[in-house]
Amino acid sequence: MTDAIHWREAVKNRDTVALRRFTCTTKREGKKGPPPHEDQVQRYFRQHAITAANRSRDQGNGGRLMIAEDSLGIAAAYTHQRLTTKLPPKVLLALGFMGAGEVTRELCFLAVATRHRSKGGALADDAVARALYDIIDCEPEAERIHVFGQVDYNNKASMKMLERFNFRQLTQGVPPPTGDQRLGWWLHVIDPPP
Ligand SMILES: CC(C)(COP(=O)(O)OP(=O)(O)OC[C@H]1O[C@@H](n2cnc3c(N)ncnc32)[C@H](O)[C@@H]1OP(=O)(O)O)[C@@H](O)C(=O)NCCC(=O)NCCS
Repeated sequence: MTDAIHWREAVKNRDTVALRRFTCTTKREGKKGPPPHEDQVQRYFRQHAITAANRSRDQGNGGRLMIAEDSLGIAAAYTHQRLTTKLPPKVLLALGFMGAGEVTRELCFLAVATRHRSKGGALADDAVARALYDIIDCEPEAERIHVFGQVDYNNKASMKMLERFNFRQLTQGVPPPTGDQRLGWWLHVIDPPP
């Protein structure tokens, strides 16, 4: 199914309406609605992703929003940008001293449409692989790229996906009410070929 999929950068005038319909989660059996951490991601892509990517670019943070299309519309999407979030001490420690030529980016949001879920992760893996190559393309001068991800403590599908790409979990997200720490930090280091 993935061979009929075409990836490209999202464009405000062309893709806003399709993004509003992008559905990456649904109500689970016995629950009132979709898992909240997935619903949040869906709302992000539907309402904010295009504006946020454009703003990030305007502010010099290199925001990218890439979408995959199949015959039914948007099949997957991801966003990444230069890391702008303040890192917690434990993550800073893991990052260590950054030499000249080292940069940090964040793989911010990534989702596949529900019709591609529970299919062994093929499209999710394609999206992550493409995101990592796109990140390399966006940082042509970098000798080392630290790619961060933040994952909700409940988002097992996302954690499994990052593990498949050798992302390392640096901190664990914890459920409320332990402050605003639902998100755990993950890191993948890329040394692009010279
Ligand atoms: C993260 C993601 C891309 C990984 O895709 P994947 O590797 O193909 O993995 P799947 O989505 O198939 O994961 C399977 C799990 O999702 C559940 N699932 C499948 N279809 C679902 C749906 N329509 N709605 C909610 N959950 C669903 C499965 O039951 C399974 O859970 P289990 O392992 O507890 O049985 C994908 O799960 C996704 O798009 N999630 C929603 C957005 C999101 O949370 N993104 C990550 C943070 S930015």
